[in-house]
Amino acid sequence: MTEQKIITRRAVLSLSGAGATAVVLAACSPGTDTGSPSGGASTDAASPATSSEAPPASGGAASGTEVAKLADIPVGGSIDAKLGSDPIVLAQPTAGEVVGFSAICTHQQCVVAAAKTEYDCPCHQSRFDAATGEPFAGSKALTGLAKLTITVDGDAVLASA
Ligand code: FES
Repeated sequence: MTEQKIITRRAVLSLSGAGATAVVLAACSPGTDTGSPSGGASTDAASPATSSEAPPASGGAASGTEVAKLADIPVGGSIDAKLGSDPIVLAQPTAGEVVGFSAICTHQQCVVAAAKTEYDCPCHQSRFDAATGEPFAGSKALTGLAKLTITVDGDAVLASA
């Protein structure tokens, strides 16, 4: 029985990210210390891992990195932004609906620029639809820009790859 528990933890460790691992370890080990960094506030005696809450609902940080304010993106328009050090483009096709893409052109990796309802590549003039990231007919680029996961949280626009 004990051996099975150790294998399960190792499996969890190999499949989880560092942050999730800490949460899972805290939930899986009610009586034992397994090196949890904060020690945890264990309120459960023998609850299974699935009953434990994940991140706090009001956190917001788990949905991505803030890359813009909603008010910065014109409705029907687009802007250039950064996700960490990576160039990205954002558009708000309709009020409150935000989409985002990598700004790396799929032709030869130049950086595209937001231009109202499209993104334009300065290298070979490919043009992409701002709302879908797909290239317009006649572009050198044949595939769309890589789509990002975008979450609007109040006035904050969060992005993740
Ligand atoms: S690199 Fe963008 S069109 Fe060629």
